[in-house]
Amino acid sequence: MSRMNWSERLSLGIGSIDRQHQVLIKCINELDEAIHKDENFKVRTTLNVIEKLVNYTKVHFMYEELVLFKQIPFPETEEHKIAHRKIFDAVEVFKDRLKTESITDIHPELVVFLNQWLTNHILKDDMKYAIYAKEQGINVQ
Ligand SMILES: [Fe+2]
Ligand SMILES: [Fe+2]
Repeated sequence: MSRMNWSERLSLGIGSIDRQHQVLIKCINELDEAIHKDENFKVRTTLNVIEKLVNYTKVHFMYEELVLFKQIPFPETEEHKIAHRKIFDAVEVFKDRLKTESITDIHPELVVFLNQWLTNHILKDDMKYAIYAKEQGINVQ
């Protein structure tokens, strides 16, 4: 899997959110690289990164839902929260699969899923509240 790179097209122009998205990209790249570690470290590193990614994603979603949406009265907050829940459910399915399948088998699929999820969510869902804020003249950083 190729590295995920931050680029201007992913920028929402909201500093706090852009920084959080950059941390998520870094975590996904770390996960991508973890599989290349030697056998002893592979499983432990991969599980640690998944844990970190899940925890940071929770923090990021909570920030958007509880802090950002207080500042931006975005009309589609409910739909946005549902999109967040769906991502979490999908990650839980991967975590469940780890109980019976090997990390080596699941890893490529998980990295592709996370890459696509983050890119799509930023460009399609998060971009909507950023555009809305701009249109309303609400400046959040
Ligand atoms: Fe979001
Ligand atoms: Fe986001």
